[in-house]
Amino acid sequence: MKIIPSILAAKLSNLANQIKQRKITYVHFDVMDGHFVPEISFGSFLAREFEIELPEVKLDVHLMVTNTQDQIPFFLGLKNVSRILIHFEGNFHHLRLLRQIRNGGKQAGIAINPETNPESIQSILDYVDAVCVMSVTPGYSGQSFIPGTKSKIKKLAEYRTTFGFKYSIIVDGGITNQLIGDLSKIGADEFIMGSQFFND
Ligand code: DX5
Ligand code: ZN
Repeated sequence: MKIIPSILAAKLSNLANQIKQRKITYVHFDVMDGHFVPEISFGSFLAREFEIELPEVKLDVHLMVTNTQDQIPFFLGLKNVSRILIHFEGNFHHLRLLRQIRNGGKQAGIAINPETNPESIQSILDYVDAVCVMSVTPGYSGQSFIPGTKSKIKKLAEYRTTFGFKYSIIVDGGITNQLIGDLSKIGADEFIMGSQFFND
């Protein structure tokens, strides 16, 4: 079980200090383009600054963008990026994108919105290192966990056992310490934590 802090919920003006003080070595990095989701957050410029200023911190890049294929190369060029999550929704050639990420030496993951069912991604599960179940509507920190997404975590854990897939199951959105126990029991491995982590 692994908790990954999401810097979308951190105070950006004091980000480096917060990371150093709390000895954080892995962060979830939400890239938002104002199109796939309403708001704009940050992108590869900030990731590059991390590489220079905080080289010990690895990034888990979550691309909530429309032009995924244009963004991937920027992040493949950075040493501090360890994983790139693309969305199922809004993309067409998932396998090509996932292959591009893996060929670039990074782990590749697929993220699904609360409205998307695991059945939709069954045929690509053999090609991913992680599946990210969005448990809120993407785009904002501080929303409440959607309980209906639990059945999707169960289903993905079931597929993994039945077919021998190797992916880890990530849950992103509305994660609290209280939820982690329950979600681990049904098969989740990694928990993205934004507001609960940085506001505590
Ligand atoms: C939401 C982002 C999440 C978000 C999580 O679109 O993908 O990573 O920052 O924040 P909390 O934990 O506050 O829901
Ligand atoms: Zn995220």
